[in-house]
Amino acid sequence: MSHINTVLLFIALFERITLASMATLNERDEITRNKTKNIQSNKIKIDIYYETLCPGSINFFEMELQPVVEKLSAYLDLKLIPYGFAKTLFFAGRYSFLCQHGPLECFGNKIHSCVINVLRNNTKAALVNSCLMKYARTIGARRLSYKMVMNWCTYNLNVNTKAVWRCVHSVKGDYLLSGNGNATYAKRPPYVPYVEISNAAGRPLEVTGHLMLAVCRHARP
Ligand SMILES: *[C@@H]1O[C@H](CO)[C@@H](O)[C@H](O)[C@H]1NC(C)=O
Ligand SMILES: *[C@@H]1O[C@H](CO)[C@@H](O)[C@H](O)[C@H]1NC(C)=O
Ligand SMILES: *[C@@H]1O[C@H](CO)[C@@H](O)[C@H](O)[C@H]1NC(C)=O
Repeated sequence: MSHINTVLLFIALFERITLASMATLNERDEITRNKTKNIQSNKIKIDIYYETLCPGSINFFEMELQPVVEKLSAYLDLKLIPYGFAKTLFFAGRYSFLCQHGPLECFGNKIHSCVINVLRNNTKAALVNSCLMKYARTIGARRLSYKMVMNWCTYNLNVNTKAVWRCVHSVKGDYLLSGNGNATYAKRPPYVPYVEISNAAGRPLEVTGHLMLAVCRHARP
């Protein structure tokens, strides 16, 4: 074999090997892409109807929701609906609200609604709102203010707290909360927190036991 032939043979071999490994790489990319797509389209939908000063809702966020979000957010399509057993009044062009646990609860519900709206990332909103709920008892007892707790809860999370406060103190906050009211009236939850779960295939089911177990059951194909 001449020199030239050997070189050509090497080039041909090299090209084959390169093409082959490129194909496996592309395939691997595709598998990863398909996996991500599957996770996106098979996300487990969780709707949570709650109110911010209700002890049951506070416990639920602390003990159930936060750990589930921290571990499984990639598989979840979360929807938080802070409103609960409130009433919306519309008088002289303005909204006002009456809440089961008083005006401070309405204020908290509005903050949660604005966090969800401003962040546009339900995982992040759930983490911020879980943190707010962790301090809700002290806020309810008026030992800490929402302002302090918001600053604390968003310290490491790169949240535009100014935008959240602008929303809370504007008609937008009222409008968002009234929208949550509409969603809650449509669902008529018999109690709060009221949690529904569904996967791509199924109808929404009421979660009565542990959220983590419910999520794992629904994750099965
Ligand atoms: C990725 O998904 C597409 C369309 O669903 C499918 O045709 C293709 O075979 C899948 N690729 C792999 C590597 O699983
Ligand atoms: C949403 O927030 C979570 C938690 O901070 C983060 O891990 C995730 O990347 C964010 N998603 C998007 C689409 O920005
Ligand atoms: C809530 O429902 C009322 C009455 O149907 C409607 O006027 C209002 O625009 C709704 N609010 C939102 C935010 O969708």
